[in-house]
Amino acid sequence: MENEQPKNLIALLVSSLNEEANDDQVLSGLTRAEIFDEVLMMIMTGYETTSTALSWFIFFASKNPQIQQRMKEELRKHHLLMIDNLKYVPPLTVDNLTSLTYCECVTKEVLRLGPVFGLTSRIATYDTIVDDVKIHRGQTILIALHNINTDARYWHHGDPQ
Ligand code: HEM
Repeated sequence: MENEQPKNLIALLVSSLNEEANDDQVLSGLTRAEIFDEVLMMIMTGYETTSTALSWFIFFASKNPQIQQRMKEELRKHHLLMIDNLKYVPPLTVDNLTSLTYCECVTKEVLRLGPVFGLTSRIATYDTIVDDVKIHRGQTILIALHNINTDARYWHHGDPQ
């Protein structure tokens, strides 16, 4: 049993506990505080993001019944549509998820139009000029993701109609 590989992320994190690990020496494993940070980070970055994306999906899907219909057709084609009030819950695997091309396009469109993270940032590593704007090494650049995702110069259809 001792050599058994951890089977999920939590088990993997717990198995990497090394009370002796610290920042000064190169020792394998994570301290309790590092494991706590990892779990907290996953709860924070994983919960709000996916629930916001799902809320936007429900909003857009409710406005676009024809798109819902096409998604259902694709799920039915791959035998993945739940039937009989959840009596049959089809298995979701990597293989059948990658076969859902239309559903994937809808998901990407929801992420493009429904702001989950409006912004991200980067620190300039060298002096440069972008669109006539001087940027100095060390400056923090805020990148307006939602503006880029809906910029009419690049996106000609705007809404998922
Ligand atoms: C719809 C769901 C999600 C969206 C829209 C989303 C979006 C983003 C965005 C925009 C960034 C910043 C990327 C960058 O500036 O380079 C990011 C980073 C990150 N996300 Fe997500 N995320 C989602 C789900 C998740 C989940 C489920 C987890 C973990 C369980 C997660 C963990 C992280 C982490 C750890 C980073 C930092 C990565 C790094 O800086 O190396 N995200 N995410």
